[in-house]
Amino acid sequence: MARCFVTRELPGSALERLRAEHEVEVWSQRLPPSPDGLRAGVARAQGLLCMLTDPVDAELIAACPDLGAVANYAVGTDNVDLDAATERGIAVGNTPDVLTETTADLALGLMLAVMRRLREAEGEVRAGQWLTWEPARLLGRDLHDSTVLVVGAGRIGSAVARRVEGFGARVLFAGRGDSLEPLLARADVVTLHTPLSDSTRGLMGAAQLRAMKPTAYLVNTARGPVVDTGALRDALRDGVIAGAALDVTDPEPLPPGHPLLDAPNLLVVPHIASATHATREAMAEMAVDNLLAALSGERMPHCANPEVYD
Ligand code: DGY
Repeated sequence: MARCFVTRELPGSALERLRAEHEVEVWSQRLPPSPDGLRAGVARAQGLLCMLTDPVDAELIAACPDLGAVANYAVGTDNVDLDAATERGIAVGNTPDVLTETTADLALGLMLAVMRRLREAEGEVRAGQWLTWEPARLLGRDLHDSTVLVVGAGRIGSAVARRVEGFGARVLFAGRGDSLEPLLARADVVTLHTPLSDSTRGLMGAAQLRAMKPTAYLVNTARGPVVDTGALRDALRDGVIAGAALDVTDPEPLPPGHPLLDAPNLLVVPHIASATHATREAMAEMAVDNLLAALSGERMPHCANPEVYD
């Protein structure tokens, strides 16, 4: 029996399977453990099941000599220092596939919402400003007949492409190594689906936003730091682009009063792209499968650093 530290309560019953085999301590508060709290929890553990809000960095890994397996409750692993984990022989699991369609659904929802100005429109109704049907009020842009640039042609990007094609939009893809600016200039919507890495941090900066059409929209369901927050705020304020819809931001959470929140034509939701009952429960099952496999000396079914097995 191993000791496991789980950094949040999970939906569904997956943790019961972990508890049936191991001693499990769950951080039961709404906010994540502080770096000290995380270290105290992991210091006692052989297995860690953590969230994307938990930095599993080289320092933490060095301070926890018993740690043998990390199961990240996310497909992205940018919160984990994979090199440090691999060096220590620690397998790191993630949760691919199960959240692809759910995340793509939200990307499409954000796209339609920002293009059709749903936040503003609903605000007018609630504020008693719906006076009559008006020919030229709250005009937006069509997704059908538009050109959507999918940046990051992986699983989620491809799922978004299938959806927007179903809406009658044309799809362009930007993959690793493609020159982004000429593609940005052709797009009515730019939707981001890249993992966060050294090469994608700040991928959408002032120059890239300027390369977009002034009538175009940016959608980010990837990771906040893929977009330069200050540059996006300026671009929205100055009308460089028509609007943005964000599921992820930098920083995250956005503190109340953050300057980005004053930008016009911005729709922002709190990192909920995978947040459906079925998907979050499936992610929990996958994370527990990863941890159980590693703790019993088997290969993790979904391992983000497979070189650890070489
Ligand atoms: C992930 O899994 O990386 C998402 O951002 C949260 O589901």
